[in-house]
Amino acid sequence: MSVISTVTVRVPATTANLGPGFDCIGAALGLYNEVKFTSLDGEGLIIQVAGVEAEKVQTDETNLLYQAFAKFYRYIEKTPPAVKIEIELGVPLARGLGSSATAIVGGLVAANQLAGSPLSTLQVMELAIAMEGHPDNVVPALIGGCRLAATSATGWEICDVPWHEHIIPVVAIPDFELSTSQARQVLPTEYSRADAIFNAAHLGLLLRGLATGKAEWLQAALQDKLHQPYRQALIPGYAAVEAAAVDAGAYGMVISGAGPTLLALTDADHTQAVTAAMANAWKQQGIISIVRSLPIDMQGAVVL
Ligand code: HSE
Repeated sequence: MSVISTVTVRVPATTANLGPGFDCIGAALGLYNEVKFTSLDGEGLIIQVAGVEAEKVQTDETNLLYQAFAKFYRYIEKTPPAVKIEIELGVPLARGLGSSATAIVGGLVAANQLAGSPLSTLQVMELAIAMEGHPDNVVPALIGGCRLAATSATGWEICDVPWHEHIIPVVAIPDFELSTSQARQVLPTEYSRADAIFNAAHLGLLLRGLATGKAEWLQAALQDKLHQPYRQALIPGYAAVEAAAVDAGAYGMVISGAGPTLLALTDADHTQAVTAAMANAWKQQGIISIVRSLPIDMQGAVVL
């Protein structure tokens, strides 16, 4: 088979929910997966994977990157070309850092590029949201920054969420996985009026806290009643890591996406202490973790 054309796309990890923003807010982080698509003449699919946890990735038609690629071509009513996909993983899988979103966005963006860009970014975004089922990972993965997504009469309204430069995300990534479907199964289907009001108030406060960097607002805003109370039991050591992060000076700590990664927000003066405290707290529970501060990625998916 000979090469017809090639495109390489880099997609950032994401942290969704940020506490009270369940299924509607997420931010892109400076940690990346890179994927190279080479369209070939003839038929077939070749998938090669390298990098973090590469052995866990499917290399047949069930691969999520390929599923997104094929969905794009079905959407534009064309047959997907034979393709070779080379994946370089930097985002660990099933940890609440949006690895599925990187695959969906990477596959759609690459397909759009190879097909001559028939779809707008907004159309790609709508396809990505439909594939993932919620917007909070795929939207920042595609366009970067911190983003809020809300349904409108005609589709989605997406707005940027200003993120004060003094607020630093620290992710604590444990060495165990938690599937999003398992973490969604433990959630109730109905909530009380008090819980709805609590989250509406705290999401509003979070938006203002993120914009201003005001410590008191951030400290109160990271609480949630919709998902975290139910998911904590799936993350051994949650309470100890949270206490350690807050004692070390973090504004607060939340579950990153569906978990099990935990996300602390802090400032530059406390970043080192928060990082060490979270790693140490988990170590005392017998859990190995990688804990690091990451910048907010402002670019989203980039065709290299
Ligand atoms: N908002 C989603 C959830 C993110 O919390 O289930 C999953 O990555």
